[in-house]
Amino acid sequence: MSELELRDISKNYKTVQALKDFSFTFTPGVYGILGPNGAGKSTMMNIITDNLKQSSGTVFFDGRDIRKLKKAYRAHIGYMPQHQGVYGELTLNRFLYYMASLKGMNKKKADRQIAEVLERVNMSDKRGMLMGHLSGGMKQRALIAQALIGDPDLLVLDEPTAGLDPKERIRIRNLISSVARDKIVLISTHVVSDIEFISKEVLFLKEGTLLRSGSVAELCWEMEGRVFELYIAPEEVLAVEERYKCSNMSSEAEGVRIRLISDSAPQGAVSVSPSLEDLYLELFE
Ligand SMILES: Nc1ncnc2c1ncn2[C@@H]1O[C@H](COP(=O)(O)OP(=O)(O)OP(=O)(O)O)[C@@H](O)[C@H]1O
Ligand SMILES: [Mg+2]
Repeated sequence: MSELELRDISKNYKTVQALKDFSFTFTPGVYGILGPNGAGKSTMMNIITDNLKQSSGTVFFDGRDIRKLKKAYRAHIGYMPQHQGVYGELTLNRFLYYMASLKGMNKKKADRQIAEVLERVNMSDKRGMLMGHLSGGMKQRALIAQALIGDPDLLVLDEPTAGLDPKERIRIRNLISSVARDKIVLISTHVVSDIEFISKEVLFLKEGTLLRSGSVAELCWEMEGRVFELYIAPEEVLAVEERYKCSNMSSEAEGVRIRLISDSAPQGAVSVSPSLEDLYLELFE
């Protein structure tokens, strides 16, 4: 069973410290990495995939320093960066062969792998299309397909659902969860629902620091008894929003139903069971 350990990782850019003494051990399963813009998610993923050198600390794969493993380590990784180079002029097929060759695969092995990953992402019939002509959702799936070539033990996906509509998000989520078996899968996102139901553990990252980590149930526990729902009149919404951290709001016959976080129950409010979204609100808003 593979294991990835980040030990005391820091990354300093000229003026910002993007990661501060970050330590965590990943084992096979899906990990959701949540954090606002600039939290250090991409920095962490770039260091894990050996595309960026940390300022201090060590990354171990199966107990060995990845900087010493080099090529042997790269063979284990599938990586979907947040910002992709432009391959608009290549067909999907050419793109995948190109990526397979970068992974050092011969033609025969590439043939088999490419057929398999295209099947996985349901794009076998799109082989001949130019990358530049794919829709946003298709492009994301093509990029995931590229990451899957070689059946990596470690799959690192930096915001794989960025810019997708809700239906495509669900497709990608199901796809990721279906390939996740026996692999360490890291997914960064701003959208809690992308990872809430498929993650073994969730990490909350803010300004380079790991604020929380654990299973969804463990993480929600700290919000127990602090999440409420309340019916109010439309003209009260502003005042309530000023006073509390508020999330879901819906207009109903009884008035506006509002979900909020509070240490004690506001007048007329009922306690509800907390979700990961509530913790996200608590930590980041
Ligand atoms: N090459 C760089 N040079 C200088 N600063 C950088 C560089 N790359 C990232 N940073 C800074 O490091 C911090 C972390 O950035 P990073 O891209 O890792 O965050 P992120 O969590 O991936 O954000 P987002 O959700 O916007 O993708 C930010 O303050 C960013 O401005
Ligand atoms: Mg990023």
